[in-house]
Amino acid sequence: MNDLDRLNQILQDQPYIEGFAQPSSVDFSTRSAVKEKDLKGREHLERWFHHLSSYEMTADTVSRSTDNFPQQILDLLASSTEFNSIELAQQWKVDHQKLIGAIKSLLANEGVLATKDVTEKRLELTNEGVQFANEGSPEFLVFQFVGTEGAAQADIMKQPFGKIGMAKAMQAKWVSVDKGLVVRKSTDVVDSTRKFLESLRLGEDVDENQKKELKKRKLISEVNIKGLLVSKGESFTTNLAKQEADLTPEMIASGSWKDKQFKKYNFESLGVVPSSGHLHPLMKVRSEFRQIFFSMGFSEMATNRYVESSFWNFDALFQPQQHPARDAHDTFFVSDPALSTKFPEDYLERVKTVHSQGGYGSAGYNYDWKIEEAQKNVLRTHTTAVSARQLYQLAQEGFRPSKLFSIDRVFRNETLDATHLAEFHQVEGVIAEKNLSLAHLIGVFTEFFKKLGITNLRFKPTYNPYTEPSMEIFAYHQGLAKWVEIGNSGMFRPEMLLPMGLPADVNVAGYGLSLERPTMIKYGINNIRDLFGSKIDLDVVYNTPICRLDNCCRMTSRLARLWQPGNPQRRVFLPDFWMAVIESPSVGRNKLPRNCVKFEVDPRMSRHDIREYLTKIYDLPVRDVRTEVQMGDITWNTKLDHQYKKAMWKEEDKKIAYVFMSKDFAFSFPQMFAASEEVVELAKMTKQQEELKEKLNEQYANRNRRVGQFLAA
Ligand code: PHE
Repeated sequence: MNDLDRLNQILQDQPYIEGFAQPSSVDFSTRSAVKEKDLKGREHLERWFHHLSSYEMTADTVSRSTDNFPQQILDLLASSTEFNSIELAQQWKVDHQKLIGAIKSLLANEGVLATKDVTEKRLELTNEGVQFANEGSPEFLVFQFVGTEGAAQADIMKQPFGKIGMAKAMQAKWVSVDKGLVVRKSTDVVDSTRKFLESLRLGEDVDENQKKELKKRKLISEVNIKGLLVSKGESFTTNLAKQEADLTPEMIASGSWKDKQFKKYNFESLGVVPSSGHLHPLMKVRSEFRQIFFSMGFSEMATNRYVESSFWNFDALFQPQQHPARDAHDTFFVSDPALSTKFPEDYLERVKTVHSQGGYGSAGYNYDWKIEEAQKNVLRTHTTAVSARQLYQLAQEGFRPSKLFSIDRVFRNETLDATHLAEFHQVEGVIAEKNLSLAHLIGVFTEFFKKLGITNLRFKPTYNPYTEPSMEIFAYHQGLAKWVEIGNSGMFRPEMLLPMGLPADVNVAGYGLSLERPTMIKYGINNIRDLFGSKIDLDVVYNTPICRLDNCCRMTSRLARLWQPGNPQRRVFLPDFWMAVIESPSVGRNKLPRNCVKFEVDPRMSRHDIREYLTKIYDLPVRDVRTEVQMGDITWNTKLDHQYKKAMWKEEDKKIAYVFMSKDFAFSFPQMFAASEEVVELAKMTKQQEELKEKLNEQYANRNRRVGQFLAA
């Protein structure tokens, strides 16, 4: 394993937010040794890398202690009339955003400061500029590479800095080429490109000609920075009373509350998550499936039998004893106890007969049926074994129309891979009724899957030993833009039902699907080992939201909404963020590349978030995401943007994401919602949010009033 893999592994254990929210200088020095191309296939490294990218420009500039920053600002103001935050940040050599943060925190004290918005043009390093400032310019790297001995031009060209570096180094007459050998032309050179970039990064001024050259090389770009002009407010003081967060009984008793200042309520702050027990994601989805079955009048079968005899797992289902599924390659046989001994005798006889000789109008399989084979214990390979037992019991009790379901674990001797384990969960439904037809079954599916949010079904004939006819159920997956198999079904054969003693005019329909697949889709899990087994991350279990399968329905309609372009009002609300399509290739007179979609996104979303949501929730083949920040008329194209969320973001500012999809990605606009419905839904949502906010405000206002009344009394 190389160092990068090891680093990747170490980072795997780091939580995303708490773990490296405050990167240290070690992070940055390590990062400078990592190249973008190293990130491929190392997802934790990539996550960390991008996280740091958003900090990198501030990494070297912090030199003033930021302890008690607000107080430092007050002290400064006491001896001057006003300051400009941008200039002060440069003067103090601190990150402007930190300074703005401190100013904003002071603004919470009414009247202490007065501020005015100011905008200044400034030069910022582009990503490449940052890289050159960190690692040296390509021409210098070439000069270094050549060394005193010289180097083959072909070798230089193989380096990442080779092409540009060679051209620039030649131009600067640092090196020359002779018959493919590059040699130094001067002995001592200064990497001025890097020097100028470093100066600019520290906010120092640089010669105009140099700036022009750097701009031409796209190493710097001009941006507008919003800052604040800060002066004393009408109740300015350098002596801020500590604001109290709580009104305590002691304060009331002693009367000290009269001299205290109280903090305002922050309605934006997030609450603390209470600790509690957690259901595994599979169990969350299971309980949702159960509710659907219950709502359709199904009752649950007893599934407490992982070990089952071959008789109930296969023979009762008219599955011949030489059927390949009964091989140890496909099925786990139990060695202790290896055999079952108790079976309903007469039923066993009838099963034997129907296999070996036929009956009930069937020719059977015509082979020598052996009890020894039926006795073998197995880990049940499907929950249809449960259904068989239940149907037999139904026949014994006297038939009545029944709808039954089960959701539990089954076992198959599979080759393990990213989507297969040797055990999984089946969801199975069984309907027994007189004169039931395939049409009924299709009706049940339509209803059942509608409740899951799946409305577009297709059926394909298939084969099961125990059903005839049999159908595989397919659904159209909007994100993948193709039909995917979601279940298996059929009408149980008379050779299975009649020996049980069910009346001849009774038909039984059954269907089964896996619990894992919808769970993985629902929670965006790609590898089954992340969902199930000894290696799963408990945080995933703790943090998966509750499952509402009808949300999957919204999810599909959300996709449609996401694809409704041209109206930025039409935001799609994701679990934590929102986004909206502004332009896509087939809309309007736009100049976007064929595979690029332009989104407006929630300002808090990072490039990483955008990629995650589009790939995991919408299954879109995202290749690259670029973001820019639009502040008024100014467009800011930088990785730094997310820092502005903290202090600088204003209502009218926008974050734009250009999302590049894989080449073969085709756009289509599903018309799932009538336009009128869209409007209504949006209005509903907005209204709900407004009401909630109002209610909260009112609650707190009332509380304050009550406290006031109490104190006045
Ligand atoms: N037992 C089948 C399977 O393992 C599913 C199924 C159930 C098919 C009931 C038809 C009827 O895939």
